[in-house]
Amino acid sequence: MSTTTTGKRITVPDLIARKAATPITALTAYSAPMARRLDPYVDVLLVGDSVGMVLYGFDSTLPVTLEMMIAHGAAVVRGATRACVVVDLPFGSYQASPPVAFANAARVMAETGCAAVKLEGGAAMAETIRFLTDRGIPVMGHVGLTPQAVNVLGGYRARGRDEAESARITADAKAVAQAGAFTVVLEGVIESLARDITAALVIPTIGIGASPACDGQILVSDDLLGLFGTFTPRFVKRYAELGPMIEAAARAFAADVQARRFPGPEHCVSTAIAPATPAPPTPEQGISTP
Ligand code: KIV
Repeated sequence: MSTTTTGKRITVPDLIARKAATPITALTAYSAPMARRLDPYVDVLLVGDSVGMVLYGFDSTLPVTLEMMIAHGAAVVRGATRACVVVDLPFGSYQASPPVAFANAARVMAETGCAAVKLEGGAAMAETIRFLTDRGIPVMGHVGLTPQAVNVLGGYRARGRDEAESARITADAKAVAQAGAFTVVLEGVIESLARDITAALVIPTIGIGASPACDGQILVSDDLLGLFGTFTPRFVKRYAELGPMIEAAARAFAADVQARRFPGPEHCVSTAIAPATPAPPTPEQGISTP
């Protein structure tokens, strides 16, 4: 564990205070050991519904369930002591109505111990965001490229390339902020749009594929570590190549086992077995008194 851990958890108000100040750092995490590794270095650990694509091999985030998010969210909270942990509400768990969203978000908060939830959508979700924040649930918004709407958007291409789309995304971001969200993720939007939205909002923007104009940055950890597939989006910087390291380790293990080099003596329990102490004779064995 790094010495940079302070022991004090970063709170939602701490993040709001970072608007236009030191950039907010955020990474995804889905498990306790990974959370433990990342926690000393980032402000936010997002238990993203990207877990469905990254860990479960789904081709979209749509099959992710509330139970999956709760299990991964609780694991990340157990692994992190410093970062503000935010858990995604999965597709279908909040769109039906504000009360349904509240019931599911409250379950996520109570059963994981996270600090906030994230949900996708702009103006259409404003009433829901207001309903949750008025009832004690901090909400991180998410506009621009919203992966849960992939079937409506028709793919994962960058958003805001024409005026109408830019105006819609700006209105979405403003609606989310006015409804009480404490931050908003801007995903896959062009730089000028990210800059205008960031300047217009009083809450921090956190960008992914949205340029340095945002108040913070988030990446999917598996992308940054070189663990996820062969395709790397243009906006991802790979800080490590763990994929080839895992393959090399597995190859070396298999070769060692086949050549009987593993396990070696140092990996075995000692073969010297201590002689058993003879048990004292029982009365039935006839202890004779003189
Ligand atoms: O699900 C996720 O990981 C996300 C981030 C990409 C922002 O929503």
